[in-house]
Amino acid sequence: MSNHNLTYFIETFGCQMNVRDSETIGGLLEQAGFSQAQDALDADVVVVNTCAVRQSAEDKVWSRLGQLAFERRDGKAPVLVLAGCMAQLPQTVERIRAKAPYVNVAVGPGHIHKIPELVLEALNRPSVKLLTAVSPSRTEARRTESTQMLPEELPRVKVPGVSAYVTIMYGCDNFCSYCIVPFVRGPQVSREPRFIMEEVEALVRQGYIEIHLLGQNVNAYGLDLDNGIGFVQLLESIDQIPGIQRIRYATSHPRDFTKEMVDTIKQSKHICEHFHLPLQSGSNRILKLMHRGYTREQYMELVYYIKEQIPGASVTTDIIVGFPGETDQDFQDTLDLLEQVRLDGAFTFIYSPRAGTAAARMANQLPRKVKSDRLQELVKVQNEITQEINNALVGTVQEVLIEEPDLRNPEYFRGRTRTNKLVVCTTKGPKPGDLVNVMIEEAGTWHLKGPLAQAGQHKSL
Ligand code: 5AD
Ligand code: SF4
Repeated sequence: MSNHNLTYFIETFGCQMNVRDSETIGGLLEQAGFSQAQDALDADVVVVNTCAVRQSAEDKVWSRLGQLAFERRDGKAPVLVLAGCMAQLPQTVERIRAKAPYVNVAVGPGHIHKIPELVLEALNRPSVKLLTAVSPSRTEARRTESTQMLPEELPRVKVPGVSAYVTIMYGCDNFCSYCIVPFVRGPQVSREPRFIMEEVEALVRQGYIEIHLLGQNVNAYGLDLDNGIGFVQLLESIDQIPGIQRIRYATSHPRDFTKEMVDTIKQSKHICEHFHLPLQSGSNRILKLMHRGYTREQYMELVYYIKEQIPGASVTTDIIVGFPGETDQDFQDTLDLLEQVRLDGAFTFIYSPRAGTAAARMANQLPRKVKSDRLQELVKVQNEITQEINNALVGTVQEVLIEEPDLRNPEYFRGRTRTNKLVVCTTKGPKPGDLVNVMIEEAGTWHLKGPLAQAGQHKSL
């Protein structure tokens, strides 16, 4: 198969899971003899790894696909592969057939290992319109026990960086009423611990400083396995791996985040003191309609437990505004919760109806203007809180893992604290992979800034 001198390029939309999947897609294409192109517009094969979580993510993909097909430097159409979550939606395949015939291959997240064979087929038989590899619908998948899980030990081309992603579980069993993920990524399937351990050990041997464990609901890791190993045991084993320096994980579900997990993180040496706990809404009525499985009181109790057990830990969240039927009072409940618990940061989203989900069928979808006004207000409230929390870090020394040059001041490098705050280091010298102590002198909402700490200045969380 090799020596055909063809090139590939991958563009990735969406979450960290997709970034990890794209590394595998690159590895598979290189194994099949393709080499990486410098630019998408020159490549023979272009893979667009897509996200379906909001309409805006889908819109970006459709316009990008058109550009990739028509704005070529050589005028010759590439083999265009639409991979990832959007490929699982029936309406995507219909739209390709009706309006985007320049897409040659559509592969869902559970089938990326088939990309080389499909690409070669598309190259050999250009008359075939669209090749697809997608999983059965969610209900059929349950019946046939087929899953979205990928075979073990697929090759990978690592995205450059000091941090490496490791998938610990596929899919999701939650069915939050707004969310498309369980439909496109299928039921939860945890990877066997030994495969995870081997992958982490290999990455640490290769020199990665930080390991980032991935899953749609990492706190439910292992519940589908029958070996007594859950997220707590997995974290404990990974924490013991010689040479590992920092461990992160995403994404958590507040319902499944137990106090025992907090205690494990507190006792560990390497697990970072950053908790990303998507709240979604601070109104109990909306949380119920969302099928989140916790109340605002339970959420607050978890955050207070974390802050009490691990002083200095950071907590961030995701919030959706404009869920169907959200009243002014419901929205005020969200603002009120944020003002009480004072989280370090929030990713904020306007509710986007996803066909096939329960919430998309609910009456009382809110007008665009109400949603965008609420988003603006939410961002303002949270930014003030974030700024105040970050101001309190001025004068402290933080351990920073240097990652890359700062985009705004390329002569400086930037990295992250253990609490996941972005820090620009204003002393020249540190390079990616260095763990350095920085004296924080300046704080904004999105970053902190300062020079290397002097000897004798001690670090804090
Ligand atoms: N509309 C808006 N935001 C959504 N999210 C998930 N589904 C939707 C949707 N339909 C948000 C949630 C989730 C984050 C990854 O994306 O806040 O935590
Ligand atoms: Fe987007 Fe969810 Fe798919 Fe990630 S898993 S790419 S967030 S739809």
